[in-house]
Amino acid sequence: MWRKAKDPLGAMTKRKKVESTPLLPGLDASPAREAPTRLAPKRLTSGTHHLRPFFGYYGGKWRDALKNYPPPHFGMIVEPFAGSAGYALRYADRKVVLCEIDPILAGVWQYLIRVKPEEILAIPDLAPDGSVEDLAVCQEARWLVGFWLNRATASPRKRPSRWMRDGIRPGSFWGQRVRETIASQVGAIRHWKVYTCSYADCPVAGPATWFVDPPYQLAGKHYRFGSEGLDFAALAEWCTLRAGQVLVCENAGATWLPFQHLAEVKTTRAGRRSLEVLWTNQAETSPGTSLDTGT
Ligand SMILES: C[S@@+](CC[C@H](N)C(=O)[O-])C[C@H]1O[C@@H](n2cnc3c(N)ncnc32)[C@H](O)[C@@H]1O
Repeated sequence: MWRKAKDPLGAMTKRKKVESTPLLPGLDASPAREAPTRLAPKRLTSGTHHLRPFFGYYGGKWRDALKNYPPPHFGMIVEPFAGSAGYALRYADRKVVLCEIDPILAGVWQYLIRVKPEEILAIPDLAPDGSVEDLAVCQEARWLVGFWLNRATASPRKRPSRWMRDGIRPGSFWGQRVRETIASQVGAIRHWKVYTCSYADCPVAGPATWFVDPPYQLAGKHYRFGSEGLDFAALAEWCTLRAGQVLVCENAGATWLPFQHLAEVKTTRAGRRSLEVLWTNQAETSPGTSLDTGT
């Protein structure tokens, strides 16, 4: 059964030239255990089906991942445009590889993968007029807290937003509940691999489930590394050459692949909805939705 999930938190970064990195040795991209087409989200050993977001991010897919996107067919999930990795969080016990060109995002993920729960629990609260710079913690922890100071931003904030200062939804901003959630989950992603690199330099070669969610061609300019830095023709070719199950996310109006209508989804802006489209190399439909041309 596909469950509706609560709204998580949700982000953006300046475009820099991307350098090539060699294929990393020892990365096992072998065919992952195959799963049935409509595999239910796998139960983690801790007894949870999936993880909650570690931080909110603009354009994050966690809320809609189960409802709108097909489940992974492979034991390895690659998110070559990681952001907050909303899809992988739903299947966190699989092998997960993230590539993210923004060093802030990649740094936060590398921190989360290695940090001890006690260290998260020891990050202090922030006073309404405080700044993350005042916190005696490492830079990655400041960035993590910074993502929890506002809703679904593309980069970490330094000071609490009006939303947070108003205290209307305390569990949605940096505080004890968020610390506890993160601390309870970090042990579940120790096996994840994160690379600070462009999708084009992703070190995985073998079959996998590729959840490709780049900055949208038309609307993805708010990220520090946004759509204006992408060559969409090259990205289209790269997507079609991946081995395994390829799921490519976009917004209605994108033309770089023959996308099909997927769903109309809520955005973090009140009253604003987004028409999501999908390209996949599979003959399947997504949960609860039939792919069509939307025409
Ligand atoms: C739409 S967001 C991904 C959102 C993600 N699916 C989630 O659930 O949070 C796109 C991400 O791609 C990153 N990005 C932009 N250009 C990139 C590139 N060439 N290679 C890898 N990542 C890139 C951006 O920094 C941003 O974090």
